[in-house]
Amino acid sequence: MKSKIVYPSVLGGEIRVPGDKSVSQRIAMLAALAKGTSTIKGFLTGEDAMSTLKAVCALGASYRFVDDVLEITGTGGTFKEPANTLDMGNSGTGTRLLAGLLAGRPITVTMTGDASLSRRPMGRIAAPLQQMGAKIELTGEKGTLPMTIHGTQLKGIHYELPMASAQVKSCVLLAGLFADGKTTVIEPHPTRDHTEKLFQALGIPVDVNGLEISVPGFGSAGPQFAARDITVPGDFSSAAFWIAAIAARPGAELTVRKVGLNHRRTALLDVLKRMGAQIETELTDDQGDPMGTVFVRGAQLYGTEIGGDEIPNLIDELPVISAIAALADGETVIRDAEELRVKESDRIAMMAAHLRAFGVEVSESPDGMTVHGPAVLKTPVKPLASDGDHRIAMSVAVLGSFTDQPVTIDDTACVDTSYPDFWNHLKQLGGNCE
Ligand code: S3P
Repeated sequence: MKSKIVYPSVLGGEIRVPGDKSVSQRIAMLAALAKGTSTIKGFLTGEDAMSTLKAVCALGASYRFVDDVLEITGTGGTFKEPANTLDMGNSGTGTRLLAGLLAGRPITVTMTGDASLSRRPMGRIAAPLQQMGAKIELTGEKGTLPMTIHGTQLKGIHYELPMASAQVKSCVLLAGLFADGKTTVIEPHPTRDHTEKLFQALGIPVDVNGLEISVPGFGSAGPQFAARDITVPGDFSSAAFWIAAIAARPGAELTVRKVGLNHRRTALLDVLKRMGAQIETELTDDQGDPMGTVFVRGAQLYGTEIGGDEIPNLIDELPVISAIAALADGETVIRDAEELRVKESDRIAMMAAHLRAFGVEVSESPDGMTVHGPAVLKTPVKPLASDGDHRIAMSVAVLGSFTDQPVTIDDTACVDTSYPDFWNHLKQLGGNCE
């Protein structure tokens, strides 16, 4: 098992983070559906995106890297039945979106995943797909992987999402493309809209009307569209570790360049500003998914309340927010975030336990937690477990840099799913780890 020791350090400087995980995976799927060869700059080569890319290649697409540029040659929609089970690794996005894309294709596909992905609920996508007429078997113990999809002709549905989930929304929209008749999804709160933005960029018709999103069904022929060249912005959720780490250090400064600034992803910036950090953004590119620069100047932070519509737009940042909340003066209350319990780990339980190991007072609730700051951080006596969850490992590493003794994190290989360069970037920003 891989472990890392993080030493106390002062962070700051300039960084460019790897490509967005959500966008890279959607591009892999849509480029596999397109006719012709797409050229993609900035594609994430982390494990999740590579699992999705390999899966679409097992379905008939092909890829090659020319230096850092990825070329994907699509199938025009005629996916072939894969010779083997698709191993989706740790990727929830890959698994759930691909299930939607394949439910209306005339092939049978089985998907499996690693221990963390095999615990995650798949009933949330099986339910709407089955309403569309899909034949899906979830053979795990609790509506979990392995999943077998026997493709059939689908019919369009009108579906109110029971939870704010971009993965479920995207799954239903992708399935809707191959259905007979229109498909509409209604979200309870706005979630990340990369799928809708990519549909628009590729010329796939999509109608966005507030929280109601519709696609016309193209029947079994599916939508016909040509490959296109696309640039993937830097992953805001990867940048978030450095943004939060610097925001909580009075006087420290950070510049993040070419990072995604889709406003459905950047609610962390609003939270940190409320907490007292100085943050400015500059938009440099606004074709499809906006991209730009984030400047951060750290300060003594103050506690805040986070809930409601804000939650889906910072869902992946809540672990690192809870970490730096320990340094803020006053209570930070997180509510309406029950989805955190079904991520790569139960992120509420994991962060609460780890914060306590640092001597922080935390109270847990079913849908969030309250962190009481400012804490005088203790050095955890035992190594901290990631539970195979990349964002737990990286959040703990950020907090570890604020202690006065080294902190050991166990099971850190998972960081490679989204941010293989994380440890190098920690060093680039003045941190120390081994
Ligand atoms: C993602 C959506 C979010 C997020 C996940 C990636 C996506 O999950 O937590 O890391 O790519 O659509 P949910 O949609 O399940 O909330």
